[in-house]
Amino acid sequence: MTKHKHYTGLIDRYRDRLPVSATTRIISLNEGNTPMIQLQNIPRMLGKDVDIYVKFEGLNPTGSFKDRGMTMAVTKAVEEGSQAIICASTGNTSASAAAYAARAGIKAFVLIPDGKIALGKLAQTLMYNATIIQINGNFDKGMELVKEVANHAPVTIVNSINPFRIDGQKTAAFEIVDDLGFAPDYHCLPVGNAGNITAYWKGYTEYATDRVCGNRPVMCGYQAAGAAPFVAGKMIDNPETVATAIRIGHPQSWDFAWAAQKESGGWFDKFTDEQILAAQKMLSQYEGIFCEPASAASLAGAMQDIASCKIPEGSKIVCTLTGNGIKDPEIAMQQCADAKPVTIDASLDAVKRAILDCL
Ligand code: F0G
Repeated sequence: MTKHKHYTGLIDRYRDRLPVSATTRIISLNEGNTPMIQLQNIPRMLGKDVDIYVKFEGLNPTGSFKDRGMTMAVTKAVEEGSQAIICASTGNTSASAAAYAARAGIKAFVLIPDGKIALGKLAQTLMYNATIIQINGNFDKGMELVKEVANHAPVTIVNSINPFRIDGQKTAAFEIVDDLGFAPDYHCLPVGNAGNITAYWKGYTEYATDRVCGNRPVMCGYQAAGAAPFVAGKMIDNPETVATAIRIGHPQSWDFAWAAQKESGGWFDKFTDEQILAAQKMLSQYEGIFCEPASAASLAGAMQDIASCKIPEGSKIVCTLTGNGIKDPEIAMQQCADAKPVTIDASLDAVKRAILDCL
């Protein structure tokens, strides 16, 4: 019998590259190890000779990439004796914080913009039993408040200004290189608070420094047109987009994200809500991959830059799909408003007719 190793999460897998010791109690839900799926139909439709892989982070335990950072941040918070964590969130960080707090047996407080988070994210955060504080302000205001309140109450901030979050999230870059056997030429991802682009760049840089890979990818950061401070070159005050996950105007990791862009020779760009939603639908329809709207910004960007040859033929491209489409059922239903289910009699004849009508 071959020796079997049960997968126990990304801290265990990459512990020699993470700040834990042999005695650290690891708070994990076996996150990470997400699939890299090569797109088959979309590249053909683009008529370009490119390899596009998606790193489907929506298959993490709470349905987004945040779990990578949260396993690390909560592990360290518990190691340091913290009894409570806090974050501001557009929905995914709050769901992840709530789950890992439940796992650790500590309290989670989450500040969310009232009415501006996707239904699934709210539902899961409630189920994990976090204390949800809705504010009549956006994510940026919530972030400001969280930073202030942490000076007045015994809570550990688990937003990506917590450096352990970045350490956990950098493992996605390790997985990509370990999976492909090389680093991609281009890495495309949505940018909101800019923690993830910071983390990927850190991961690729560590692997390149240690000669695990020969190159680092060009980093392409894509934003929603109504929430694109990196494209504007300045913070913006009233971000708006259907992709609520990235409805952010004052990104916390501003300098780190610019460093990733400059050092990699990459760029930022922005896409309208319509372009983002079209990319989300394409991925579902033509590849069978259902991501949330914000995640699809990575593909919207890749498709545009491949079509214009800014990303040349022959390139190997990775797009991060940051979250699962199931989190935002309301947008999905709106996207498919024209494809209402048909209702028929429960008879063989009627079912047969319904099928033949569609063929
Ligand atoms: N995609 C999704 C699905 C997200 O939830 C986020 C951020 C991003 C992309 C952007 O990543 O902030 O590292 O640049 N969501 C945070 C939250 C802000 O509160 O869940 P980033």
